[in-house]
Amino acid sequence: MTDLQLELASRLAGAAAAGGSGWWSDFTHGPTLWYANRATGVVLVGLLTLSTAIGVVSTARGGSARWPRFATQALHRNVSLLAMTLLALHVISAVVDTYVTISWYEAFVPFVGTYKPLWLGLGAVSLDLLLAVVVTSLVRERLNHRRWRLIHVSSYLAWGIGLAHGIGIGTDAFTLWGLSVSVLSSLVVAVSVVVRLGTLVHERRLTV
Ligand code: HEM
Repeated sequence: MTDLQLELASRLAGAAAAGGSGWWSDFTHGPTLWYANRATGVVLVGLLTLSTAIGVVSTARGGSARWPRFATQALHRNVSLLAMTLLALHVISAVVDTYVTISWYEAFVPFVGTYKPLWLGLGAVSLDLLLAVVVTSLVRERLNHRRWRLIHVSSYLAWGIGLAHGIGIGTDAFTLWGLSVSVLSSLVVAVSVVVRLGTLVHERRLTV
C-alpha cells in the first residue's frame, strides 16, 4: 500500500469510528475536505504564479490597440482575487477537516499550532503577506507610491513561502505531477524576476 492509500484508509476508518450522525459529520470526518484542501493548494500555487507573471508583464510600459495595458492590469487584479478566493477555500477546508486539529487563528498566526507547526506556519506567513498586499492595493490611492510598492514586492516572498509550505506539508508534493507544478512555477517566477529586473534597469537608464 502506498502512503496515500494508507492515509485514505486511515481517514475512512476514522470517519467510520466517529460514527457521527448526518451529512455534516460524514463531511468533516471523511476524506472530501482533504481532497479539497490538496486541490485548492495546488491550484493556488498555479494562480499565484500566473498573477506574479502577469503583474510583471503589466509593469512593462507596452500595450497595443488590441490589448491595451489596462487589460493586463485588470487580468492581474482578477487572477489575484481568484487566488485569494482559492486561499479562503484552502484554509476553510483545512480548518473544518477534523482528521487533524487546526484552529482558525493558526491560519493567521504563524508557528503556534501543533500540526506540523513549521510548515503550517509558513502557510500563515504567506497568507499574512498576501493580505497586506491585497489590502494596500485596495487603498492604493491613499498610500505613498514607494510604500505601496515596497509592500507589493513582498508578494514574491509570499509566493516563495507559500510554495515552501506546500512542499513541506503536501501529500502530493513529491509525486511526479506535484514536483512538475513546483518546478514549472519556479521557472515562471524566476523568468518574471529576471524580466522585472531588466525593466527596472531600463527605467533607471531612461531617468538618468
Ligand atoms: C498563500 C498561502 C498558501 C499556499 C500557496 C498554500 C499551498 C499549499 C499547497 C501547494 C499544498 C500541497 C497540496 C498537496 O500537495 O497535497 C498545501 C497543503 C496544505 N495547506 Fe496550504 N497553502 C497556503 C496557506 C495555507 C494556510 C494559511 C493553511 C492553514 C490553515 C494551510 C493548510 C494546509 C494544509 C493542512 C495542507 C496539507 C494538505 C495535505 O494533507 O496534503 N495552507 N498548501
